[in-house]
Amino acid sequence: MEFDNEGCNSGPQFNFVYCGVILLLTIALACFGQPADALAEKNAESRGAYIFKAAGCVGCHTRAKPKGKFLAGGRRMETPFGAFYTPNITTDRQHGIGNWTYADFVAAMREGKTPDGSVYYPAFPYSSYTHIHDEDLRDLWAYLQTVPAVSEPRREHDLIFPFSLRFSVRGWRLLYFEASRFVPYPKKSLAWNRGAYLTRALGHCGECHTPRNLLGGLDKGRELAGNKNAPDGKRVSNITPHLKKGIGTWSESDIRSLLRDGSLPDGDFVGGSMTEVVENGTSHLTDKDLQAIAVFLKALAPHEGP
Ligand code: HEC
Ligand code: HEC
Repeated sequence: MEFDNEGCNSGPQFNFVYCGVILLLTIALACFGQPADALAEKNAESRGAYIFKAAGCVGCHTRAKPKGKFLAGGRRMETPFGAFYTPNITTDRQHGIGNWTYADFVAAMREGKTPDGSVYYPAFPYSSYTHIHDEDLRDLWAYLQTVPAVSEPRREHDLIFPFSLRFSVRGWRLLYFEASRFVPYPKKSLAWNRGAYLTRALGHCGECHTPRNLLGGLDKGRELAGNKNAPDGKRVSNITPHLKKGIGTWSESDIRSLLRDGSLPDGDFVGGSMTEVVENGTSHLTDKDLQAIAVFLKALAPHEGP
C-alpha cells in the first residue's frame, strides 16, 4: 500500500499511521466543529433572550386580555391619536416576520422603516431602540428566530385623521427622529455608561418618563422628569434625583429593589404600567445591570418636572 501524498512520504508503514492520524484529526475537527458552532449559536440566542427582556418587547407584542399567544400581537395601545394594535412578530411567514431578512429587522429597529420603505409610528419605541448596539441587535434577531410561529392575522390600527395616514409620521420624524447609535461617554464610568445604555436604548424608560411636547416629541432637556400625560393618559413619576419632586431621597439600593421586584422604599409596591415593566423587564436583569441603572439615575440632573 503506497501513499502518494506529499505530506506522507516517509515510507508506507509510517505513512499509513501518519495519514491515519491526520484523517482522525480531521474527522474529530469536523465533529467537534459542529457542536462548537451550535454552542456559539445558542449563546447568541441566550444573549438575545436577555436583550429581549431588557427591552421589554413581550408586553407590547402579546395580548393581555384575553391572554394572547407569545408575541402574536394584537395588544391594544390607547393614545391621544387613537388606538394601536401591535403586530405579530413571531416567525409566522404570513402574519409575522418569518419572511424578513436581518436587514429588514435592522431597518425597523434602527431607522423605523418598514420592509416596503414606509415608516413606523413611534408607538413602536424605535426612537430608543435606534441606540441599540449592532451586536445586541444580532443576538436579539437570533433569539427571535427561535420564537414559534403563530398564524394570527394583524389588526389594523384605529387612529384618528390625519394620523390614520401612515405618511403623517414623516413630519414627526423630521422634527424628532434621527437614526442613531449609542456612543459611550469616555469621561463617565463604565457603570454609568452601561446604565445610560440600559435606560435610554433597551429599557426605553424615557418613552414613558420623559415629558413630551404637543406634537409628541420627547423633551430631552427634561429627561426622565415625569410625564403628566403619558401615552395611556396616566401620570408617570419624575425619576430624576430632585429631592421633592423626584427620587432624590432614594438610595441606589432603593432603586435596585424597585426594579427587581417593584417594592417601594415605604414598603408599598409600584403600580400602573410600571408593574409590567418590572415583571417583563427589569426583574430579569442582573444585579450589576440594576446597579448600573441606579448609578445613571442618581447622576441625572435633578429636575422639577412639568
Ligand atoms: C411600547 C410598545 C412596544 C414595545 C415595547 C415594542 N414594540 Fe414593536 N411595535 C409596536 C407597535 C405599536 C408597532 C407597530 C408600529 C406601526 O404600525 O407603525 C410595532 C412594530 C414592530 C415591528 C414591525 C412588525 C411588522 O410586521 O411590520 C417589529 C419587528 C417590532 N415591533 C419588534 C419589536 C421588538 C424586537 C421589540 C423589543 C426590542 C419591540 N418591538 C418592542 C409596539 C412596541
Ligand atoms: C410603560 C411606561 C413605563 C416605562 C417604559 C417605564 N416606566 Fe417607570 N413608571 C411608570 C409609571 C406609570 C410609574 C408610576 C407607577 C405608580 O404610580 O405607582 C413608574 C414608576 C417608576 C419608578 C418609581 C418612582 C416613584 O417615585 O415611585 C421608578 C424608579 C421607575 N419607574 C423607573 C423606571 C426605569 C428605570 C425604567 C426603564 C427601565 C422605567 N421606569 C420604564 C411607567 C413606565
